[in-house]
Amino acid sequence: MSDFQQDLKLIAEQVNSHLKDYLQNQFSDSKLYEAMDYGLFSGGKMIRSYLVHASCKILDVKEKEYIPIAAAVECIHSYSLIHDDLPAMDNDDFRRGKESTHKAYGEFTAILAGSSLLTLAFEIISSFNFNISNEKKLKIIYALSSCSGHLGIAGGQFFDLSLKNEKVSKDKIINMQNKKTGALMGFCIEVAAILAGKKDLEEKFRSIGIRMGLLFQIKDDFLDKYGSVDILGKPVQQDVAKGKNTLIDYLGESETKKLMKNLKIEIEKDLKPFPKTNSLLDCMSFIINRKN
Ligand code: IPE
Ligand code: IPE
Ligand code: MG
Ligand code: MG
Ligand code: MG
Repeated sequence: MSDFQQDLKLIAEQVNSHLKDYLQNQFSDSKLYEAMDYGLFSGGKMIRSYLVHASCKILDVKEKEYIPIAAAVECIHSYSLIHDDLPAMDNDDFRRGKESTHKAYGEFTAILAGSSLLTLAFEIISSFNFNISNEKKLKIIYALSSCSGHLGIAGGQFFDLSLKNEKVSKDKIINMQNKKTGALMGFCIEVAAILAGKKDLEEKFRSIGIRMGLLFQIKDDFLDKYGSVDILGKPVQQDVAKGKNTLIDYLGESETKKLMKNLKIEIEKDLKPFPKTNSLLDCMSFIINRKN
């Protein structure tokens, strides 16, 4: 196992244990709770948690200040995947090597489990037990809510689905991907600046995260085309079949790979002035080279 993979495992354990402790206090003997648990603890890579960890490392933010944030991000991410797989959206039956939440629990339960995970994120951050200043909490809630709604994930998902089978410009595709995937990753990096009280770095960090998100989504689109269902744990070759707009489709593979290379160079340049960027750079390499 590489250092990155070992680190990722450790962060994943810390974040999952925070989530498990938090949820233990509100255990409910209902299928809705079960479906939330199923969608949340189903073996995701926890890359967004790692991004929070790696950017907090750069600015010396303590673990106890950022683990709850990573936990909240994973709730939002899992919500977005549960809804993404629904028949009204991508209509995919498998996720993380298992049945999608709506396949396992039915549609209305999956919709409600998704909504409950979205709100759980904000509950975790605003919880009295999370000990950071109220001013920082408010800023974090503002940033996280803006990147989840119509200007972020929901907005990007809307374009992704409503522009199916339509020829759209490169800028529109990038805008859609920045919203559906980049915005949350932008938050993951920006939050380090908020927690460290470095207002002047918030925008720069967010912009690095958004570009990492674009890299992540482009790689996801390559994996959809060439990846294996066994390794990915989700259906493949769906984007073309569903008429999705991807950069691979619009620019062709070699231009898209050039764009990825340029994004990587830009991010490396932006990170140059900072110390302790090795974890974040390792994570970027993982994003680009991953097989799942
Ligand atoms: C999948 O995200 C959805 C996209 C934004 C492409 P991940 O690949 O991070 O999903 P998990 O959490 O590891 O399953
Ligand atoms: C989903 O993009 C992005 C989200 C915000 C959920 P995809 O639809 O390509 O993600 P996968 O391939 O189903 O994981
Ligand atoms: Mg989708
Ligand atoms: Mg999908
Ligand atoms: Mg995909």
